[in-house]
Amino acid sequence: MIYIASDHAGVDLKAALIDHLFAAGHSVTDEGAVSNASVDYPDYAQKVARCLLADPTAQGILVCGTGIGMSIAANRSSHIRAALCQSIEEARLARAHNNANVICLGARVVTAEAAISCVDIFLSTSFEGGRHELRTQKLVNSDVLGALIALEKDAVAFGFDWPNQEMIFEQIISECTEIKDAMRNDESPVRVQEEISDLLHAAISLCMYSGFDVNETIAIVNKKFKWRMAALKAVAAEHELDSLSGESFEFMLELWSEAKKR
Ligand code: RB5
Repeated sequence: MIYIASDHAGVDLKAALIDHLFAAGHSVTDEGAVSNASVDYPDYAQKVARCLLADPTAQGILVCGTGIGMSIAANRSSHIRAALCQSIEEARLARAHNNANVICLGARVVTAEAAISCVDIFLSTSFEGGRHELRTQKLVNSDVLGALIALEKDAVAFGFDWPNQEMIFEQIISECTEIKDAMRNDESPVRVQEEISDLLHAAISLCMYSGFDVNETIAIVNKKFKWRMAALKAVAAEHELDSLSGESFEFMLELWSEAKKR
């Protein structure tokens, strides 16, 4: 399956690519945008990234004005290796050496003919593996969360999965106890860190087992916490405070619950 998306600047080239791909017998899913009305490229890059998370052997095509925004946005997802291509040689090497799973194209910088040629060679070229295997592995390993997600997926694919959610809840509770014990028993910082990492792993497992995208889930807490911190700072400012250091915990909680109501 090929998942394709564009922003407003890439809609026409996307249409031309879809026509070409259908005619060539490919299965293509169009993830938008649907018109020339202005939209934001990260939203569309994310749509294709999500499709590839659910369908890891699929390939993606992203089009914007230059292809740059799409490639930056897509490469923020650790399972994506997006290559911005303007020439057939780049498209070939993106597959052969980088095992790219998404090709990004700039509708304002390449002709439709050049884009179609790039896509054709991209889709028909295989990853060479060998020395490039380790290099592409290193791309994943520099991203610790991505690496954990990949390991968890590998474990599940290997049949090593949780039997039910209840067991993950139990695991999370027992990890909390283990952290508390390690801290109370003055165990080494490395031991305590190991216990905390087990808790994080269990929470990520729960997220994945429940069918949620981990990055998307973390983005929810980031958004919520960012908003609440802004509200907390506003509440503190009303009390003529530009910092809470030195304030009592009770007072902080009071402000926090005021902030939560905003
Ligand atoms: C939209 O005008 C344009 O900025 C966008 O399509 C893309 O080129 C961004 O990288």
